[in-house]
Amino acid sequence: MKIYKNHDLSRYNTFGLGVKSAYFLEVEQEDDLPRAIETADELTQGNFMFLGGGSNVLFCGDYKGAVIHLAFGGLEFHETGRNQILVEAGAGVSWHDLVTYTTQNGWWGLENLAMIPGSVGAAPIQNIGAYGVEQGDCFESLSGIPLNGPPCTYSKKICDFGYRNSIFKQELKNNFVITRVRYLLETQPNPRLDYQDLKLRFAEAFGKGTGHQPSSNEIANAVADIRRSKLPDPALIGNAGSFFKNPILTKEQAESLKNLHPNMPLFAPKTENDTGSESKTSAAWLIEQCGWKGHRRGAVGVSETHALVLVHYGDGKGEDLWQLAQDIRSSVRMEFGIDLEPEVNPVL
Ligand code: EPU
Repeated sequence: MKIYKNHDLSRYNTFGLGVKSAYFLEVEQEDDLPRAIETADELTQGNFMFLGGGSNVLFCGDYKGAVIHLAFGGLEFHETGRNQILVEAGAGVSWHDLVTYTTQNGWWGLENLAMIPGSVGAAPIQNIGAYGVEQGDCFESLSGIPLNGPPCTYSKKICDFGYRNSIFKQELKNNFVITRVRYLLETQPNPRLDYQDLKLRFAEAFGKGTGHQPSSNEIANAVADIRRSKLPDPALIGNAGSFFKNPILTKEQAESLKNLHPNMPLFAPKTENDTGSESKTSAAWLIEQCGWKGHRRGAVGVSETHALVLVHYGDGKGEDLWQLAQDIRSSVRMEFGIDLEPEVNPVL
């Protein structure tokens, strides 16, 4: 374990904000984690946080506590019989590397989740999802350390995954660190191409009746292309993907808003216990209707290609991004009566 003081975090948050943390503990071996937690606790009297890929965090200023950076990897798989493979990855493995590893082996389950920035250890916290699939769909279990107890393993049921939600954002918030995650993948083809962008992409091949079934790797490549065309690359322009969640509306809310705004998109929310009584609308659409798409305010702004993505052009401040987010929220609230919930976690 390495300990740094007054550490530059610009490489450790995908907004690329030039903030510092009072302490930075780099944990490259999983076995060092308990000692890192103890040390951070002693150095800061409990003011510490865990960081993976930094793709879902907004530092609104310098962080006065200690950042524990989970940098340990490890990727292994076990054949379970029954045409299934159990893949296990350490918290510090890059999510996209995990997806690539599985699709290049021809396994099915994670292909729609290609190119999502961030690390494996962060994926279950907000139950990352894209193109009709969430990581919870093929999740098997995870291991981790509660801050007040011995290491333990949680099954899918305990994790209580919902839309961009899990027990780690609720009861266990700031009280549990994930060290390893396991996914149960399939060896037999199981393409999920219902999402409009993907359907269109593969429709041509199906339409020609060539009989060509895409491989999971081809689907992952198509997802990567679609993402590149819509979402700014954090390596080129600072961002954390979707800044807000898509709001879930009751049936009544959805109906009355649809009457007022006939073009408003409505989708069925993707949750396992979907009762059919709720709909999801598009936060990007709401934000675009309020005129924010492509808006620039000094060093920060709203992406020109996707209204749900807030961007940092360089040399800006996290607090300015957070203020912009508040202003967007107010105008959506005024215009539509909907309170957008941030998906990105601010460190205020
Ligand atoms: N739209 C607009 N303006 C825009 C962009 C989109 O009006 O600038 C509308 C369009 O009607 C479009 C709809 O929004 O049909 C949906 O857009 P998109 O397919 O890009 O998906 P999204 O709902 O905006 C969600 C996830 C993304 C994920 C995509 C694809 C959330 C908060 N975001 O975005 O996840 O990649 O679906 O499945 O659920 C992330 O979480 O960081 C993320 C990028």
